[in-house]
Amino acid sequence: MSTHTQTNGNAFFACNDVHSYYGESYIVQGVSFEINEGEILALLGRNGAGKTSTLRTIARMDEPELEQGEIWLDGKPLHTMPSHEAAVAGVGLVPEDRRIIQGLTVEENIKLAQIVEPVGWSLEQIYELFPRLGERRKQEGVTLSGGEQQMLAIGRALARDIKLLLLDEPYEGLAPVIVQEIEKTLHYIREQGMTTIIVEQNAVAALKLADRAVILDTGQLVYEGAAKEVLENEQLRHEYLAI
Ligand SMILES: Nc1ncnc2c1ncn2[C@@H]1O[C@H](COP(=O)(O)OP(=O)(O)O)[C@@H](O)[C@H]1O
Ligand SMILES: [Mg+2]
Repeated sequence: MSTHTQTNGNAFFACNDVHSYYGESYIVQGVSFEINEGEILALLGRNGAGKTSTLRTIARMDEPELEQGEIWLDGKPLHTMPSHEAAVAGVGLVPEDRRIIQGLTVEENIKLAQIVEPVGWSLEQIYELFPRLGERRKQEGVTLSGGEQQMLAIGRALARDIKLLLLDEPYEGLAPVIVQEIEKTLHYIREQGMTTIIVEQNAVAALKLADRAVILDTGQLVYEGAAKEVLENEQLRHEYLAI
C-alpha cells in the first residue's frame, strides 16, 4: 500500500473532512463529498445550515477560514491555495450578491474576468447563451435587472476556463419566467460538461437540475444521494428542506 490514501481519490472534485471558521465561530464541521466530472450537485439545507460557507471555503475565500481538511479539484489541492490561485485552478464562484462591478459595462465586466488566464468562453459564446447580455453589452452592469445581473454573473464565471461552477442561490429574488430562462441555460452549461454545485432555497428547482444532492444541517452533512431520492423522500424534505 502506498501512503496515498483516500484523500485524493479518483473523484474529479472532493471535499475531505473540511472544517472552517469565521473567527471563533465553527461553521463548516467536517464536510466530505465527491463530485464526478460533469455532474451537478445540489447543496441543500435550511437557512444558516452552512451552504454559502461551504462554497466560500471551497473557493478559498479569506472567510470562513479553512482550518482542517482537503479540497481537490481535478488532481489539484485547493486546500493549499489562496483564493486567486483556486480561481486559476478552475473554481468559478457566482456569489449570492452577484458582485457586478459598478462603473463597468456588461462587456467590461466579462472582459475583466478574462484578464485572468486561462480564458474560457468567448464573448460571442456568452452572448449566444444569454442574448439579453449581448443586447445590453454597452449598458452599465449594475443597471441591469436582477435576472440579467444573474446572467452576467454566470457569464463572467464562464469567461474564465473554469472546471467547477459554484452557484449560490442563482434563482433568488427572480420571477418564475426568469428562473426558467436561467434554468435552460444551466441545462446547456451542463451539456457542455461543466461540473457544478448549485445552492438553492428553491430545492425543487435545484433537484430537477441536479444528479445528486447533499443536505447540510448545522454545518454537517446529513444526507448524500441521488437528487431524485430527495424529491421522493417526504421525511427528508420535511425535516431539512421545508418543502
Ligand atoms: N461573516 C460571518 N461571520 C460569522 N458568522 C457567519 C458569517 N457568515 C455566516 N455566518 C454564520 O454561519 C452559519 C452558516 O451561514 P451560511 O453559510 O450563510 O448558511 P446558508 O448559506 O446555508 O444559509 C450561520 O450560523 C451564520 O450566521
Ligand atoms: Mg447562503
